[in-house]
Amino acid sequence: MENLISLVNKLQRACTALGDHGEDSALPTLWDSLPAIAVVGGQSSGKSSVLESVVGKDFLPRGSGIVTRRPLVLQLHRIDGDREYAEFMHLPRKRFTDFALVRKEIADETDRETGRSKQISSVPIHLSIFSPNVVNLTLIDLPGLTKVAVEGQSEGIVQDIENMVRAFIEKPNCIILAVSPANQDLATSDAIKISREVDPKGERTFGVLTKIDLMDKGTDAVDILEGRSYRLQFPWIGVVNRSQQDINKNVDMIAARRREREYFATTPEYKHLAHRMGSEHLGKSLSKHLESVIKSRIPGLQSLITKTIAELETELKRLGKPIANDAGGKLYTIMEICRMFDGIYKEHLDGVRPGGEKV
Ligand code: GDP
Ligand code: NA
Ligand code: MG
Repeated sequence: MENLISLVNKLQRACTALGDHGEDSALPTLWDSLPAIAVVGGQSSGKSSVLESVVGKDFLPRGSGIVTRRPLVLQLHRIDGDREYAEFMHLPRKRFTDFALVRKEIADETDRETGRSKQISSVPIHLSIFSPNVVNLTLIDLPGLTKVAVEGQSEGIVQDIENMVRAFIEKPNCIILAVSPANQDLATSDAIKISREVDPKGERTFGVLTKIDLMDKGTDAVDILEGRSYRLQFPWIGVVNRSQQDINKNVDMIAARRREREYFATTPEYKHLAHRMGSEHLGKSLSKHLESVIKSRIPGLQSLITKTIAELETELKRLGKPIANDAGGKLYTIMEICRMFDGIYKEHLDGVRPGGEKV
């Protein structure tokens, strides 16, 4: 299974790298049918912080106000050994080993597209992280939903953000990470409002409750975490991310995770839920769910991949061999990955054809 997720990841990456090429081929359809996880919620609800904790690394710009102004498509690739590095699609030949520089590049690349204004853009930034400490996942960080434009923003920005978010999460293959802060009324949660719109039965929405540590004294989140306030198919997961003060003081991820574990284990109200709370549990739940989604999609993906291989072969013939140009090389890579997928799929069938009869 590990193999299959990693292969889907590679496929996504290769399709993306090809960019606009192949508008008329099966590739865009292939990309759309691969599962991804998008993080949605109100501004400053803690989306970027949640993403960072799932990844287990500091690399995202975070803070009060509108910080995330372009979608960030983040692909995590698990690799062997002890190397850990990041690559941006817009800087193909550069390997980042310093994650503080990754954060700076995200901020700079956001500004390059939007100018230094507070405007937003729907053009994604693509980032891949290669590490022995990650699970294979594709995660998308999105600008926060908001109710009012601020100084320097156009009036249409509120609607623009909502439309951009909806475009990602309305795809049936999108798993929604709906982030709501515990120190605000759940009834006013932007995350719940928009995810309910596209996934009314809560079949592909994970409810994440942040800022539990910031709730008013005498109140707690037990009703929400036990699913009585708003019911979803998956259990709600509470997290405690780093506060702004922690960020300013450079509290590291390992310390933050330890503190989060201690918080749930020692707070009387949450003790009985501790085993299914926290960022680590969230990461594992997501990976497990992604696995089952991919498994269930294998037959559909399989026929698409067969179609893609056939189309790529035609395209490659047209381009001529040997493949000298860039597009040809990338098409070739995708075809190779598709063939590997094909091979693993056959292994997965374990001697049984989709119809059920024995081979
Ligand atoms: P985003 O705008 O939704 O991406 O939110 P950010 O991740 O940038 O977080 C906004 C602010 O809330 C930052 O200052 C974070 O430090 C803070 N924050 C996020 N989650 C928590 C949490 O669980 N507890 C506390 N105390 N602060 C948090
Ligand atoms: Na923010
Ligand atoms: Mg953010």
